[in-house]
Amino acid sequence: MNFNEELKKKTGEVEKTITAWLPKPEGFQGRVLEAMEYAVSAGGKRLRPLLMQETAALFGEAGESLSCFMAAIEFIHTYSLIHDDLPALDNDDYRRGRKTTHVVYGEDIAVIAGDGLLNYAFETALRAFGKAVTIDDYQRIECAMNILGRKAGVYGMIGGQCADLLAEKPGAEVTKETLLFIHKNKTAALIQAAMTIGAVLAGANEKAVGRIERCAENIGVAFQIQDDILDVTSSTEVLGKPVGSDEKNHKLTYVKLHGLEESGRQVEELSREAVAILQSFDKRNLFLETLVEQLIYREK
Ligand code: IPE
Ligand code: IPE
Ligand code: MG
Ligand code: MG
Ligand code: MG
Repeated sequence: MNFNEELKKKTGEVEKTITAWLPKPEGFQGRVLEAMEYAVSAGGKRLRPLLMQETAALFGEAGESLSCFMAAIEFIHTYSLIHDDLPALDNDDYRRGRKTTHVVYGEDIAVIAGDGLLNYAFETALRAFGKAVTIDDYQRIECAMNILGRKAGVYGMIGGQCADLLAEKPGAEVTKETLLFIHKNKTAALIQAAMTIGAVLAGANEKAVGRIERCAENIGVAFQIQDDILDVTSSTEVLGKPVGSDEKNHKLTYVKLHGLEESGRQVEELSREAVAILQSFDKRNLFLETLVEQLIYREK
């Protein structure tokens, strides 16, 4: 099987795992559940759960609890997209190839659909404890819960979104350091959560988890630089979300600060460094290495 076939197959399997954990829209809260399902089922690359699964495979057997965390990270990511698109934030109307949640369900329901997904992510991740058998399992799951909470929160994704929003205000002082903070937190933090949780659940030691965290930081920063590049060079049809969003919102981006060419070089350099870290472990995961390398050339 070539890489693209394998990617398609694995993404399909991840899709099934996510769908299996998604609550059914029913009852008096049916409308918010419907909006949550609308946002999650629109697809997307499913990169974070895939990275979690493949990082786990680099270290061994992660057990049944892995699926709870794979669904949880995608729920958190999807909530971040619903809120990111709201008129009060980036004010974008398309996401994952369809109208974004607030356009279809209204801002009120979109806000609570985001809240619902965030909360449900932790309900789902907590189910992992029910699958634990040994004390080791419990400890790994506890560690994974801590990572998920921290990286999704004010010292991770939310912190990055805060700096991102302030940087677009008139008169904001924006430096290279600010931009790196934004990229590391609004984007890399969830990718770090995905990969380190995979490593922890598969029994990686502390030192190995630290190396995975650095590797994931590179992948995450590169991923956001590429996102900023595509916002300038791509089209809505290909991306499934509006282009020119950053310009519209006066966003500070790599492209704005360093230009397209230099930004592309950074994506490549950071990704190659990440692959080198992956290659330095006893075991290899060639699919994961290729996935990270292919992200350099991603068009959506
Ligand atoms: C979009 O993430 C938001 C960023 C962090 C750039 P993705 O590009 O992974 O979005 P989906 O999940 O494939 O829709
Ligand atoms: C968003 O960055 C990162 C999130 C935490 C959602 P962007 O605002 O650039 O993401 P897109 O381009 O809307 O997907
Ligand atoms: Mg944004
Ligand atoms: Mg946005
Ligand atoms: Mg963007």
